[in-house]
Amino acid sequence: MTNALTKQTPIDYTIVKNQIDNSGLEKVGLASIREIVRLVNEIETEAGEKYVRMEMGVPGLPPAKVGIEGEIEALRSGVASKYPMIDGVDILKKEIARFVKNFINIDVEERCCVPTVGSMQGGFASFLVSCRRDVKKDTTLFIDPGFPVQKMQHKVLGLKYETFDVYNYRGDKLKAKLEEYLEKGNISTILYSNPNNPSWICFTEKELQIIGELATKYDVIIMEDLAYFAMDFRKDLSKPGVAPYQPTVANYTDNYIMLISSSKSFSYAGQRIGMMVISNKLYTRRFADLKRFYKTDEFGHSMIYGAIYSLSSGTSHSAQYGLAAILKAANDGDFNFIEEVKEYGERAKIMKKMFTDNGFEIVYDMDENEPLADGFYFTFSYPGINGVDLLEKLLYYGISAIALATTGSDRTEGLRACVSQIQRSQFDDLEERLKAFNKDHSK
Ligand SMILES: Cc1ncc(COP(=O)(O)O)c(C=O)c1O
Repeated sequence: MTNALTKQTPIDYTIVKNQIDNSGLEKVGLASIREIVRLVNEIETEAGEKYVRMEMGVPGLPPAKVGIEGEIEALRSGVASKYPMIDGVDILKKEIARFVKNFINIDVEERCCVPTVGSMQGGFASFLVSCRRDVKKDTTLFIDPGFPVQKMQHKVLGLKYETFDVYNYRGDKLKAKLEEYLEKGNISTILYSNPNNPSWICFTEKELQIIGELATKYDVIIMEDLAYFAMDFRKDLSKPGVAPYQPTVANYTDNYIMLISSSKSFSYAGQRIGMMVISNKLYTRRFADLKRFYKTDEFGHSMIYGAIYSLSSGTSHSAQYGLAAILKAANDGDFNFIEEVKEYGERAKIMKKMFTDNGFEIVYDMDENEPLADGFYFTFSYPGINGVDLLEKLLYYGISAIALATTGSDRTEGLRACVSQIQRSQFDDLEERLKAFNKDHSK
């Protein structure tokens, strides 16, 4: 980038440069999501310009109304003064079990359905139990790319992890790659998100079967992170009790914990409530080594009365009623939650085209033989520029994202774009800025 060009960038060059220099960040392209949020806030204020903000995965739609009504009613009835049951209120447990049957076609007992303070806490609690159940199995395997906060949770807990980027190991190749790790005998847990944050790949049935069968063979627990539940918009997953269903490893193994977030599918992130669903069999399994940390050796009991009790003594009482109301409406066929969030897929389709029309490339683009779905995230790169530099350069063009390098991806040329905060009214700005970038950087 020459000085002459940089000085004419869509956002005032000097302002962006000074803010980057003053941010204290060693390398802006490697900054965490929240650090980028802060930096862009500051540039926006100083420059008086609005960015196309694609760095943070927050819902950009209003919350599910039925949930709000449910919460208000619960608050009026006085639940705020009472401690909730640690394992969740009965009505919510019942609706979670129904939801899992209706939308995933898996049978789970109500006692195995537990609300958590977001999937974030569900993951933390699961690590506390799953990764401590066998003294020999002390390492988590992340099928990456992934959500960086789960690795931060491992660091905070002093737990070990290994990771690989699944990009080159799709389909049949996944088996040998997983066995490379599992044969060593130290893996307690495998974690992935599906649809995947950041790449939006969705595992095929074949891949889920491979993962599930290996989980049983090596007695490893799968933590299936369904943060973007039913948001593969290529299929209609919206009808309760009607196929197709949200794909899951639970069809292939009993060694699973599902983490179902309400943040994106129900636009309910602010209430910090999610669902942890432990398989019926895993719930009652006994692991002698759990006694090192918990009063009992039973998996489910340790999870609720050991991990979740010590973290937060359960989940906000009113939020539980709000979620119960959302799930009941979805289960009864009165609330089509997919219809509400489909907008993300439509935005992604338009935005991806703007990027590819202007010299950019989509990084993760296929699920085996099928083109990737359009959804909450997509990944992109620009020929000849690595991801970390690309992120920094795009800041001068009023566009923010995060580098794939921070997500365990080998595709370090790439960035992750989140479509949720981009309004259609910003599409013209985005297109103009991409055009300007391409003009200044194409060879
Ligand atoms: C893959 C993944 N897992 C978990 C979470 C956290 O979900 P929650 O808001 O339910 O804590 C997110 C949020 O962005 C996510 O992307």
